[in-house]
Amino acid sequence: MNDPAIGATLVSSEELQVRIAELGAAITRDYEGRDLVMVGVLKGAVLFLADLMRHIDIPCEIDFMAVSSYGSQTDSSGVVRILKDLDASIQGRDVLIVEDIIDSGLTLQYLMRNLGARDPASLEVCSLLTKPERLRVDLPAKYVGFEIPDEFAIGYGLDHAQRYRNLDYVAALVH
Ligand code: IMP
Ligand code: MG
Repeated sequence: MNDPAIGATLVSSEELQVRIAELGAAITRDYEGRDLVMVGVLKGAVLFLADLMRHIDIPCEIDFMAVSSYGSQTDSSGVVRILKDLDASIQGRDVLIVEDIIDSGLTLQYLMRNLGARDPASLEVCSLLTKPERLRVDLPAKYVGFEIPDEFAIGYGLDHAQRYRNLDYVAALVH
């Protein structure tokens, strides 16, 4: 796509696919014999979840949540509103939240508390990207694809004003 807002490549398509296969293999090993439900956080995690689940070789289900965090366009406030809740109960099940990116960590902290209160058997996080320099809460994500620098990332599900989700790699936004 020819667009001056699309900057340097942060993670190439090849790097994404290699790492996602590794994550899928790790999840397959760790969740063998358990009752895995992957919860994708709309909309950013859609491409990641779709590729990840193709590398998961045990029975699993998927469900989705949509949340919006109040705040400026590029900064999370930690005040989160649920726009779409899960379709099914997660009580007693092994829940893996699948996120596109952990920035401050505030959105995920809210989701962990909210889903944790529903009495799952276990609750873990798999995030494609993290920005360690920006993390404001103590949030151990069990599975992380890539650590990226403090840049606004677009592509492979990540948007800026709803655009660029269709890139098959992750780029820095030029702004
Ligand atoms: P947090 O609450 O600060 O961790 O932000 C979480 C949400 O903000 C993510 O799920 C993304 O939807 C969005 N976000 C944070 N950083 C970026 C970025 O670099 N590009 C695109 N979306 C981002
Ligand atoms: Mg998101």
